[in-house]
Amino acid sequence: MDTLHTIAQLRAHIGGWRREGLCIALVPTMGALHLGHRRLVEEARARADRVVATIFVNPLQFGPREDFEAYPRDLSADTRMLADQGVDLLFAPQVSEVYPAGPGAATRVEVPGISDILCGASRPGHFAGVATVVLKLFNMVQPDVALFGEKDYQQLAVIRRMVRDLDVSVEVVGVATVREPDGLALSSRNRYLDARERAAAPALYRALRQVAEAVTAGTDPHVEESRAVASLAQAGFEPEYVRVLRAGDLAQPQAADRDLVVLGAARLGRARLIDNLAFSRRPGAAV
Ligand code: PAJ
Repeated sequence: MDTLHTIAQLRAHIGGWRREGLCIALVPTMGALHLGHRRLVEEARARADRVVATIFVNPLQFGPREDFEAYPRDLSADTRMLADQGVDLLFAPQVSEVYPAGPGAATRVEVPGISDILCGASRPGHFAGVATVVLKLFNMVQPDVALFGEKDYQQLAVIRRMVRDLDVSVEVVGVATVREPDGLALSSRNRYLDARERAAAPALYRALRQVAEAVTAGTDPHVEESRAVASLAQAGFEPEYVRVLRAGDLAQPQAADRDLVVLGAARLGRARLIDNLAFSRRPGAAV
């Protein structure tokens, strides 16, 4: 596996593959890799001739009081894992390579509406930062297929919307969330949890499962959302939201909508945890 740091080197390398007519997959990450990232790479390998992974902690998607500086970075362990997984090329640029005039001066991609709810409400500018860097990576690599985790459900929805609205020629593939045996979704930020918080953390997914089960059986989603928020607070979390929305586009569900998703975000100690669960409601249930 080659590791490259400049866009010029990256383009030269990938240009050769493209001339050979090879199918190229892209797996964008911020590093501190875990088994969730590994699943994306496996899926990429199954779908393409060459796999490009990127590691870039993107300052544009962090708020001023967020964990950009503290975000875990371990390029040597990440490089070993990606090489073992059969990744062909790792692109790990510096901030100055991606944003030569500084992140604050960069042209931005706004995906309105869907970026403003849920995590976007508490993290203003976050999804513009994600959309901007992902479009830049698409332009640098020009992949045939790009893989993203369903763990970040809203992020995946924002990226799909951007690709549609800007006519980007890439197939976006969502990959199911990889979890610990106790249900906690794998996340680079789980490293922030101490032993007691780690033991409490699976309560988020449990709460979402209870909402999904109750709404599937016909209970009013709003009642279940409030119940879940209260149970998380009881378990020591600072809940941010629990919402039931239409699967895919995250619209407000209508009576006829069967395919739903429950999404939750909550702070636990230093960590901000997010999770979600897609499910189908029986016909005739409450809205
Ligand atoms: P990062 O948090 O490193 O995640 C990289 C990719 O791994 C994302 O598509 C994310 O959804 C996926 N992922 C994370 N945890 C997962 C899990 N438990 N199971 C399955 N997939 C999982 O998301 C980002 O980076 C950034 O916002 C990025 C898209 C790279 C743009 O900067």
